[in-house]
Amino acid sequence: MKKILAIFALASIMCINAKADEGMWLPSLISQRITDMQEKGFRLDAEDIYSINQASLKDAVVLFGRGCTGELISSEGLLLTNHHCGYSQIQYHSSVEHDYLKDGFWAMNRSEELPNPGLSVSFLERMEDVTDRVLEGYTPDMTEEQRVAVVKKNSDAILEEVSALGNGLRGTVEALYYGNQYFLFVYRQYDDVRLVGAPPSSIGKFGGDTDNWVWPRHTGDFSMFRIYADKNNNPAPYSQDNVPYKPKKFFHISTKGVQEGDFTFIYGFPGRTQEYIHSEGVRYIEELGDPHKINLRTLRLDIMNKYQSQSQKVRIQYSSKNATVANAWKKWQGEVKGIKKMKTVQTKQAFEAAFDKWAAGGEFDGVIAKIDALYKELEPYQFATDYYSETVRAIELSNFASSVMAAYKVDKATGEVTFEAAKADAALESFYKDWYLPIDKECFVALMTEFDKNIPADFKCDYFTKQMKKYSSAEKWADAIFSKSIFADQSKLEKFLAGQKSAAKGRAKLLQDPATEFAAEFSRWYASQIQPVTSAINQDLQLAYRDYMRGQMVYCRTQRVPKAFYPDANLTLRVAYGHIKGYQPSDATYYLPSSTIKGIMEKDNPEIFDYNIPQRLRDIYAQKDYGRWADATGEVPVCFIATNHTTGGNSGSPVINADGDLIGLNFDRVWEGTMSDIVFDPEICRNISLDVRYVLFIIDKVADADHLLEEMVLVE
Ligand code: ARG
Ligand code: GLU
Repeated sequence: MKKILAIFALASIMCINAKADEGMWLPSLISQRITDMQEKGFRLDAEDIYSINQASLKDAVVLFGRGCTGELISSEGLLLTNHHCGYSQIQYHSSVEHDYLKDGFWAMNRSEELPNPGLSVSFLERMEDVTDRVLEGYTPDMTEEQRVAVVKKNSDAILEEVSALGNGLRGTVEALYYGNQYFLFVYRQYDDVRLVGAPPSSIGKFGGDTDNWVWPRHTGDFSMFRIYADKNNNPAPYSQDNVPYKPKKFFHISTKGVQEGDFTFIYGFPGRTQEYIHSEGVRYIEELGDPHKINLRTLRLDIMNKYQSQSQKVRIQYSSKNATVANAWKKWQGEVKGIKKMKTVQTKQAFEAAFDKWAAGGEFDGVIAKIDALYKELEPYQFATDYYSETVRAIELSNFASSVMAAYKVDKATGEVTFEAAKADAALESFYKDWYLPIDKECFVALMTEFDKNIPADFKCDYFTKQMKKYSSAEKWADAIFSKSIFADQSKLEKFLAGQKSAAKGRAKLLQDPATEFAAEFSRWYASQIQPVTSAINQDLQLAYRDYMRGQMVYCRTQRVPKAFYPDANLTLRVAYGHIKGYQPSDATYYLPSSTIKGIMEKDNPEIFDYNIPQRLRDIYAQKDYGRWADATGEVPVCFIATNHTTGGNSGSPVINADGDLIGLNFDRVWEGTMSDIVFDPEICRNISLDVRYVLFIIDKVADADHLLEEMVLVE
């Protein structure tokens, strides 16, 4: 074990980071990078970034909801994140009468701030290497399954110790470098988080899905929340008696402005990257995974867009769903292009060949061939898995049926059935509010048709084959499900649930419903024929990758191959640093690194939904009524790009300058660089941030919410 740890300590030092700016670094180990950061312009120390002895920048950063980042910007718990991160909360409070998505929302005093059931934020208290403890009792002769059990048992014990501390503390143990290392992350979670403000979507989502993932960009992608705590500043469930949380640290906001070449650093929660995968893994993504998933989503999006453009109500109902589907859909397209252009498969193959030659006769002999063979075995099952999640699991009606069925609990010992009415009620409420039958039904037809076409006969689910035969077409099958299922009829279902004689009888009846049957039959197929195989292969892959990962480090160090080593993103707190910089997306084109309000006006078009800005903004522009927010050119800055290595989950992350002050809010990457989850190209990969001065400008001039500005600390 000691030997392994030594390799990890050395790796980040010895394997020189050849490609500048690549990397998502662990804050507790940032002292290993601090000299490089300082050489690039940073003026603070490692302890200012992460410290367990004093307040540090980490105390101003939170994991927001399930997959975004947010930061504290006042001593009274005011939090900044993206508009798209607060989107489902903004939508939750919206109706045709109070359309906060369309018109924006600003609480003009604390009592107007809106609570959000289910939303929480988490502060990282500390992180530590727990590899030795997690692997206690593990011996190399154990199978991978036994190892998993050891890891789980030891991790659970650690987590219990953390929860026992109380006060909203919770822990997670995360594997780094494919389980070569384990870290404990201790969080303090706050559950009373209220909506404070959001600009209208015509600002916060300006450019919509047309501009999503694209530079030049002019999206005012921000929203504001406030964290509430009990009187002792501790986490507490929502209560009117709660008071604004007093953070240990909050960001001061720099109004000085940004220049090309300026040092920037991102502090946030990147979700998932796969920087060290084998060429076969990349080839699958490039040739099969991404193209098929893109096609399936194109079909769904066409259907949603058609109905959304016909009705304001449907537009609101499907706004969040559409954005979610469209987001990955567009990213995958950029990713495929990027991998192809970088010739990543070929580059990796060359690396693997050299590695393999070096490894001959040693500890890592054969690991390349092993991974290669496992991928070949996995491919058809992975393909079926992708189809399952992008077709069957995309049918809203059957997902809903499953969530209602989950309200029935069957006692394993006695077989007794109970029904949790509140759980069912919650499912009904959230489903019917945003469900439009014609969309779901047309998607069903389109997706089942693709499933039929692309999944080989010997991989198809028997139930699917039988139904297609019985009904002769996906259309007729859809007719049967959507007209017969009780789940498609709210009042019928409500009546049924209220009047069921016993939970057991009710459940038995609903199990025969065609929507329940659809979900259940497919899930049985997936659980019995697909998932056991994928998880067995993935377990072997995991083991092989653990060796390959360690092998790559030893190889690069001993053979002096320049390569950056940092653990793949796994929704834990990371630091990425770089500088503000334009790029050349294609021949004879160069993109400048910042955009201004002028660009908003150039795009402005009342005829195009994504580009129709509020009249207020037009008036301000006409009068150049920018207040103190104009930059040196006399325009209001909007967005900028930089070389920071980021991914999904980094949305809402603070963009910090050399002095530790907030200059922006990360929200996207450029399309040509979205392959950076797999391979980072310093020439092309750029993160997109909102300039904080645009945030201040909107709050001041469009929202007239000066009271919020007064809470913040602005520095020149
Ligand atoms: N592309 C950004 C991200 O990955 C922004 C997403 C906002 N959603 C959208 N469909 N415009 O999250
Ligand atoms: N918009 C992404 C998010 O929600 C960030 C963009 C990216 O993937 O880099 O986290």
